[in-house]
Amino acid sequence: MDGAEFEAPEGQSLGVALALAGRLGLRRSPTAQTPRGLFCLMGSCQECLVHVDGRPVPACLEPVRAGMQVALDRLSQGRDG
Ligand code: FES
Repeated sequence: MDGAEFEAPEGQSLGVALALAGRLGLRRSPTAQTPRGLFCLMGSCQECLVHVDGRPVPACLEPVRAGMQVALDRLSQGRDG
């Protein structure tokens, strides 16, 4: 994730794996710049958008796969990330 490796069970929700790794802030809201992360856990709210292998996906619906490249929104790199 963003240049760092972390382990999670294959098939687990990427959003849950990130949360268990302590990464709750996945991006920032475009206007208020407030941290956003898991909310609905069913793909509806899009608050958990991350980039996996270069494509935007809701982290809550994306299964963990070996070697996947996960990039968080550049705006999420603040103190809350
Ligand atoms: S938590 Fe709502 S789409 Fe992922």
